[in-house]
Amino acid sequence: MEKLEIKESLPPGGGKHNLNDYESVYETFRFEEVFADFSWHTTGKVNMAHELIDRHVMGPKKDKTALIYVDDNRRETYTFDDLRRLSGQFGNLLLKLGVKKGDRVFFFMPRSPEIYVGMLGALKIGAIVGPLFEAFMESAVTDRLADAEASVLVTTSVLKGRVPREKLPKLRHLIIVDEQPDYAEGEVDFARAMAESKEELEPAWGTLEDPMILHYTSGSTGKPKGVLHVQGAMIQQYITGKWVLDLQEDDIYWCTADPGWVTGTSYGIFAPWLNGATNLVRGGRFSADGWYRTLQDEHVTVWYSAPTAFRMLMSAGDGMTDKYDFSSLRHVLSVGEPLNPEVIRWGFKAYGKRIHDTWWMTETGAHMIVNLPCMDIRPGSMGKPFPGIVAAIVDNMGNELPPYSLGNLAIKTGWPSMMRQIWNNPAKYQEYFAVPGWYVSGDSAYMDEDGYFWFQGRVDDVINTSGERVGPFEVESKLVEHSAVAEAGVIGKPDPVRGEIIKAFISLREGYTASEALMEEIRLFVKTGLSAHAAPREIEVLEKLPKTRSGKIMRRVLKAQELGLPVGDLSTIED
Ligand code: WT7
Repeated sequence: MEKLEIKESLPPGGGKHNLNDYESVYETFRFEEVFADFSWHTTGKVNMAHELIDRHVMGPKKDKTALIYVDDNRRETYTFDDLRRLSGQFGNLLLKLGVKKGDRVFFFMPRSPEIYVGMLGALKIGAIVGPLFEAFMESAVTDRLADAEASVLVTTSVLKGRVPREKLPKLRHLIIVDEQPDYAEGEVDFARAMAESKEELEPAWGTLEDPMILHYTSGSTGKPKGVLHVQGAMIQQYITGKWVLDLQEDDIYWCTADPGWVTGTSYGIFAPWLNGATNLVRGGRFSADGWYRTLQDEHVTVWYSAPTAFRMLMSAGDGMTDKYDFSSLRHVLSVGEPLNPEVIRWGFKAYGKRIHDTWWMTETGAHMIVNLPCMDIRPGSMGKPFPGIVAAIVDNMGNELPPYSLGNLAIKTGWPSMMRQIWNNPAKYQEYFAVPGWYVSGDSAYMDEDGYFWFQGRVDDVINTSGERVGPFEVESKLVEHSAVAEAGVIGKPDPVRGEIIKAFISLREGYTASEALMEEIRLFVKTGLSAHAAPREIEVLEKLPKTRSGKIMRRVLKAQELGLPVGDLSTIED
């Protein structure tokens, strides 16, 4: 196993724990120790927005910059006190609309200061925040809003075009953040309503078990599922922010993820502000120049991104990295997909920092397997369990397997940021915990003799394209809605930049013949109906798809054939 001989020193933190010694922290740390860092520890009253913002305003951080927002046309900064006042206004606005604690307030809009203000305001009144990625098209948006029975959607004058209100009877209000000429029944002008709203707002107090955020994510079967996290997730989001991101007083922290995904909330909102850090958000699309300008000009010190992004930066060439000054960077991290050893090596050359991998999932709410700054990085490994987390490789019965055995990556149940519900679907929730005592992740991995975990793949058919999780079923369902498509089977095909791309195998209905134009039309049909990242990059027409006798399309056979691998057990295939 290769090992990179790079050492750098990062300032130790963490009070009484010696963070330069993983083993000792792992042995001794208990999550209970950090309770005293929250105001609910003394008051008994919990509210996430209070812990993120208002609490800091009562102390020396009142005028510290909390948010730096930049895109190609805009640069704005907000202090903790600015965010306290603005989120108070937004919370009051929601109250005026009749929103109550526990109601679902959804956000479907691009990154901008307004989305952060809005989410904080919703949290302040105890509403459940529901983020939707801006690239979702009508059916993706509709499925999620309907399942969650959202009563309010914060969106833009353009994106509201993908929200069929006639199909969403529970959706009472659309708050439009940009200007538009006319406001229909149920539409609210954000700027005007904010201006009419008071800043002072007593947070809705509750308990650590009160619901907080609902993220939709994909599985291999069925529609996307709503993963519900509770307020108590903050315990783990806070301490992993402190120890894994290594957030310090003077850091400028940039998490590149959109708040439509869990990384963009747990580590794009919660972890940095729980730690009182300055949080930078860059809006707009990816461009190597734009990103490097942000790193350089904003003096970013801690940078959390994803393998796909690093690979895109890598392919932009070394000529590009040579043009910029990355001397502010102190710590670089990655999540979402396997981090290639080659990318770590390149990253060290390009930025002078080793990229620290982290592994977790929408369902886990916060980091599970990490590389603490003190750890030796083994390129290709995801690292070791965060202190307080027990991870293991188990077989399907829950027996722990010895080092180097391939099996299910599983976590002992009961960590603070563990999801508490799959919305409206208790049976789906139970499936994760079918092996008693363990949460089974759906990833396969092995552990080496020193306790480092090595990702091998998904156990199920879930696709990971550019770090985004796509369920094959959702894409297949959309494909067969097209009049030319009889049947569809969708797989992830390995790709050097995106990790995987989506490849669809389809059979055509009577009267249709395969042509380049038809394939493009079908691709566009998924792109505009579901979302851009879910559209298959490759479509192949087959006479007939491999199916089990019960009619289930055998994606693993399609995948094996595509990769030129043995197709395995075919005993259940139809004749
Ligand atoms: C799946 C979870 C919360 C992180 C963003 C994605 C894959 C995540 C790694 C990693 C290899 C990784 C897994 C996991 N994944 N991190 N460091 N190395 N694979 O969250 O959309 O819920 O997807 O992403 O397959 O199960 P998500």
